[in-house]
Amino acid sequence: MQADGSVAAVSGDTSLNLGQYSRAAIERAGPLATGLPLASLPGRSIVARQVHALVQRLARHGLLDYRLFSPRDARDVVVIEPQIAEYWPEPAKLSNGDTLALSRFAYLRRRDNEMVLESPRAGALFRICDPAIAATLAALSRPQKISNLRRQAAALDIGLLGLLLSSGMLIKLDTKDRDGLRVNEGDGNLVLWDFHDLVFHTRSTEGRHTDPVGGAYAYAAAVPPLPALRPPWPGKSVSLDKLALPEPASPFVQLLRARHSTRDFDDRNPVTLPELAQFLGATARVLSEWKSGADVDGGSEVTYTSRPYPAAGSAYELELYLAVSNCEGLARGFYHYDAGGHALVTLDASPEQLRALLAAAEFSMDASGPPQVLITIAARFGRISWKYSSIAYSLVLKDVGCMIQTFYLAAADMGLGGCAIGTSNIDLFAKMTGLEFHVEGPVGQFALGRSAHRSIPG
Ligand SMILES: Cc1cc2nc3c(=O)[nH]c(=O)nc-3n(C[C@H](O)[C@H](O)[C@H](O)COP(=O)(O)O)c2cc1C
Repeated sequence: MQADGSVAAVSGDTSLNLGQYSRAAIERAGPLATGLPLASLPGRSIVARQVHALVQRLARHGLLDYRLFSPRDARDVVVIEPQIAEYWPEPAKLSNGDTLALSRFAYLRRRDNEMVLESPRAGALFRICDPAIAATLAALSRPQKISNLRRQAAALDIGLLGLLLSSGMLIKLDTKDRDGLRVNEGDGNLVLWDFHDLVFHTRSTEGRHTDPVGGAYAYAAAVPPLPALRPPWPGKSVSLDKLALPEPASPFVQLLRARHSTRDFDDRNPVTLPELAQFLGATARVLSEWKSGADVDGGSEVTYTSRPYPAAGSAYELELYLAVSNCEGLARGFYHYDAGGHALVTLDASPEQLRALLAAAEFSMDASGPPQVLITIAARFGRISWKYSSIAYSLVLKDVGCMIQTFYLAAADMGLGGCAIGTSNIDLFAKMTGLEFHVEGPVGQFALGRSAHRSIPG
């Protein structure tokens, strides 16, 4: 409790204000430090409602774990660690006749001295403290009727199965589904995801896990940095210096030399809509459309496009979403770039979401203000994973690299400034677009605007 009567959650030098509560409510919430039974939360009194509000606020900030505790053995059976802000433990209702199986995205692994059950689909991870539960999970690698499971494990907790199901660790199958575990878990967009690709996507972005992201130098004390230049191999060296290209350098080489990252923008002289149109037209617009014959036996013909940057398999799965903060001639807002029609289409994102997106970019660049235009590069994953197994997500990231360099060069050519951004929040994007994270989501970002420092067109 702070001097002004408000309650704050404090960790190191970070403090989060959680609002004002009565002394009685704070006393009632005291056992939160070790465990407050969820069943004790509902209640109509003012104190009960205050405790409920405090608990929900803590949950929304990811500050609660949920313990399944065995009073008989006086130890935890499972501890649930939420990974998304909305997680709340609500067990799905189950009956003896239901058939369950482990999701193909769920995996058990060692974390420090614990065993954790994780899944890129789940909003929480489950710390498995009782080996008997790991045995039940192993049994669930094949579809199992609950009555059957109960015969094998007498102490099986149906509530836990309900929590595993509601969080997406388990799937419930119809009788007719039994043989098609992959095609019966989720929609076609999910079927196309390989396990490692979805894990990689959710763990290398923000929004669906709680680990530190970005330049944390986590093991700097244990491992020294690698040298900037690779030590040369001992073999005979052929100097290329004498073979240097004649001066002056070609316009393309000059453009490569002029390219650099710009993080601070001149907000009194923002990028204009015609410049934005030129930038998008030069870098991302559809140049032509063509059809190939059927790619697979019995399939129909597939439409492809050509665009200014190269893309694996000509799939062109990348889409551009623009968070516009300051562009002369274009209202502040969130837009999709229709690359076929060369047009910007407004999306209904809230001002808070737009601010959050721009603020995260400002933070990532350690900039003095938000970028004038923040381009989120999103992927329609199914467009590329329909064809490629094992390498689909890596191809998406390589395509992002091609696109980012194209952006850098176009910005330099136009005398604009830009900067790639290495992180994106897939949960925020899902909220802004209403699209599920496995259907279409951010894989890269690029800040664009007029540099605060004079830049010379390439
Ligand atoms: C994939 C990628 C991610 C990047 N992420 C960030 C970032 O999050 N924040 C940032 O300030 N710069 C970011 N940068 C910009 C680099 O820091 C910059 O390219 C590098 O320091 C070289 O400087 P230059 O671009 O001015 O030549 C990123 C660049 C790339 C290619």
